[in-house]
Amino acid sequence: MKKIACIILPTYNEAENVIVLIPEIFKQAKKIDSHELHVLVVDDTSPDGTAKIIKQFQKDYSHLHLISGKKEGLGEAYKRGMKHAIEELNSEIIFEMDADLQHDPKLIPFFITLYNNGFTLVIGSRFAPGGSTPNFGLYRKFLSFFGNWLIRFFGGLPRLHDCTSGYRLIKSDLIKKCDMKNLSTRGYSFQTSLLFELLRNGAKVLEIPITFPDRQHGVSKLALQDQVEFMVNLVKIRFGKYYEFVRYGFIGTFGILINLGIYVVLTRFVGWTVELSGAIAIELSILCNFILNNLWNLKTKEGSPGLLGKMFKYHSISAVGASVNYIVLLVLFYKFGFHDITANFIGIVLSIFINYGMNAYFSWKELNQNI
Ligand code: GDD
Ligand code: MN
Repeated sequence: MKKIACIILPTYNEAENVIVLIPEIFKQAKKIDSHELHVLVVDDTSPDGTAKIIKQFQKDYSHLHLISGKKEGLGEAYKRGMKHAIEELNSEIIFEMDADLQHDPKLIPFFITLYNNGFTLVIGSRFAPGGSTPNFGLYRKFLSFFGNWLIRFFGGLPRLHDCTSGYRLIKSDLIKKCDMKNLSTRGYSFQTSLLFELLRNGAKVLEIPITFPDRQHGVSKLALQDQVEFMVNLVKIRFGKYYEFVRYGFIGTFGILINLGIYVVLTRFVGWTVELSGAIAIELSILCNFILNNLWNLKTKEGSPGLLGKMFKYHSISAVGASVNYIVLLVLFYKFGFHDITANFIGIVLSIFINYGMNAYFSWKELNQNI
């Protein structure tokens, strides 16, 4: 018996669209040999009667399923849909797809071919080379681009182009490993938090370019609120758990205090120059952060380098931020006449941002290794 590939279509007022989309999807089934194609519509009791149309279609398509629920956000709809597709339909593959014709169903067989070639997460990407959003206005283009840039920088995923895409193939086994309850409930941040969960669980990823045209019927359901949640959750998504964030914030704050404190003591009480004191303060704060990081991270992975090797690695990651800190201190103080402590503080803040990016890049290499 063939394994099942189930397309989850979340719908809220998509009656005009599903009339066209459902037959289009099932047309693709004929081109797929390896899997039996099913469609699960997760409708949140749309007032426009979307569910009625689906029930009508069920007379023609035996592989069409429907679950109805309360409107609690796109993320919640997907969670319910994925649970149903895995537990009730026993699907091996799950698709996420919009029901508003913005995702081209003709790509479904290609997604499955890639799955058969070993990829466990295939992302339809609007921003990868070859992808496009032809009808996006300047504002929406900016939002999408900026949002994706943020998630790449803060999340440490420099090699992915579209982290919020809603057109994806996912291997069910991966979803089973995910902590679904803790994922966000709304559109954009659900997509991103799911992506990170999947990567943490070892997804083998490939992005394929897609064209994302405008809607012909109906309106987008994702509002400003969804974007706000996305921004608020950015850091949570990056760290997975708030605990990690608190840890990072604590160590960072401690680093600032050590750097500034030592700088003040050396310049004010010992009487050393700005150059020497600045350099020593930076070095000691790096060492201090290193020690704290190690104390806190009690578990060491097998095959990880010894203490000296780790210290060297930590220094090389901190080097860019430290240099910026130092240069900003000297330039602001000597060239622009800033108060030296203010100059050092500005340098430290800048270096924190840089360190964050470097840290995300290197420590999340693991996440990127399958991309
Ligand atoms: N069941 C259910 N419940 N469906 C919903 C809900 C909800 O609360 N909100 C939206 N949907 C359905 C819509 O009916 C549509 O089929 C699909 O989810 C996508 O919603 P749109 O409202 O069309 O979203 P969009 O086009 O603005 O956003 C798309 O792009 C985003 C990234 O820019 C989607 O693909 C998002 O997933 C994606 O993050
Ligand atoms: Mn849409």
